[in-house]
Amino acid sequence: MSGSTPPTVAELINDRSGEEMALNDRFLNPQMGRILRTLGFDKVWRGGEGAHLIDADGERYLDLFGGYGVFAIGRNHPAAIAAVEEVMAARTGNLPQLGVTLLSGVLAEQLLARAPDSVAAMVPANTGTEAVEAAIKIARAATGRSRVLYADHAFHGLTLGSLSINGNSEFRDGFGPLLAGCDPVAFGDLDALERELARGDVAAFVVEPIQGKGVNLPPADYLQRAQALCRAGGALFVCDEVQTGIGRTGRFLALEHWQLAPDMICLAKALSGGLVPIGAVLVSRGAFDTVFDGMERAVRHGSTFGGNDLAAAAALATLRVLDEQGLVEHAGRMGALLLELTQPLVERYEVVHEVRGLGLMWAIEFGPPSGRVGRALWEAVERRQAGLFSQLITVPLFHEHRILCQVAGHRMNTIKALPPLVVQEQEIRRFAAALEETIARAERYPSALARFGARTGLRAARVRR
Ligand SMILES: Cc1ncc(COP(=O)(O)O)c(C=O)c1O
Repeated sequence: MSGSTPPTVAELINDRSGEEMALNDRFLNPQMGRILRTLGFDKVWRGGEGAHLIDADGERYLDLFGGYGVFAIGRNHPAAIAAVEEVMAARTGNLPQLGVTLLSGVLAEQLLARAPDSVAAMVPANTGTEAVEAAIKIARAATGRSRVLYADHAFHGLTLGSLSINGNSEFRDGFGPLLAGCDPVAFGDLDALERELARGDVAAFVVEPIQGKGVNLPPADYLQRAQALCRAGGALFVCDEVQTGIGRTGRFLALEHWQLAPDMICLAKALSGGLVPIGAVLVSRGAFDTVFDGMERAVRHGSTFGGNDLAAAAALATLRVLDEQGLVEHAGRMGALLLELTQPLVERYEVVHEVRGLGLMWAIEFGPPSGRVGRALWEAVERRQAGLFSQLITVPLFHEHRILCQVAGHRMNTIKALPPLVVQEQEIRRFAAALEETIARAERYPSALARFGARTGLRAARVRR
């Protein structure tokens, strides 16, 4: 042991900034380090504010990735920070465990007041996947049935239960055997759902109102009819609003677009302003009381940090900011503007096959152009690695326009944006203009891009090994 005093956090941030990648490569996830270097995304991020990330040189990047959608009210919102500081200053009697606390109760009260009448109680959690795990367990215990249905391409988290209802093989492969009794149905296919429900053993159908992987919107009356089928079949209807909730789609909950009344609603991500881990399941009175049906069963599900004061305070501040700044309506307006500016790209550029979204959950899907030469180049790029074309768009957007956005899923030629709800009109316009310029260049100089793609593809192939 050396006699020197260990550094404080402030000293660490000051003295060791710049060591992030080296530490990551040595102790955390070196393959992620290789991806970041391949794409040139290996920045030192010095700070974040509102809709922006700020690099070590003080350059501001428009962040349309939003930490996987947690920064609805923007990065480091002063009200959320103040709420956390107030809890610290109050030295609250946090986590008594054999006792209850105020802030978590008020949060439950406020969330349930904003949710449909079909839910009446809250089960606190710390992450999205933990909320989904709770929903699976509650559904099984409440119905006495074991099967859980999920949609193809669904993403509900990466712990074992949530992974068992994940509809993407790139996440599932190698982790089996997964939970028994979890079966997929195609997203939008009511006949398949009805067939599965007819077996009479389904505890729940868990579905994202809009699928996060790919930003897939449901067919017009799919969700209402799926809910009705579940009711008729004695199964619980569970909406996973971890990504779509908290104003993302221009409504506080996306389910409001279809007037749904689910038996359970999973929340997480943006709920605590991106500051403190959080999750929650809103549960129907019937399901809740069946599961927690006596004093002996009061603690049969829970989580040590669930409902902690810091998360609850940050969430209450987030709800206040949403209301005070009218951010849910603003998200609806900004989303409509983004679609208005970007949907015409389908007509203007052969590689743009579709632009879709609801509120500030938006995606653009690319596909091969119709001409022989263009198609050959496209295929040359895609042979290197499926989905590589999208990186030919995200990389220049980042380096030349200082805009961070993401590819919507593995081997997908779809780019996705989850802008903070505080995004301003001129930033939406800047993104749309930068996107068009990048796509136009990709169409005008396809051979240069193909060469770039080949180089990047080769390097990406090495990353995967
Ligand atoms: C719809 C949905 N459910 C659940 C999760 C899992 O959340 P977490 O990463 O907080 O566990 C995610 C994460 O992206 C999600 O989008």
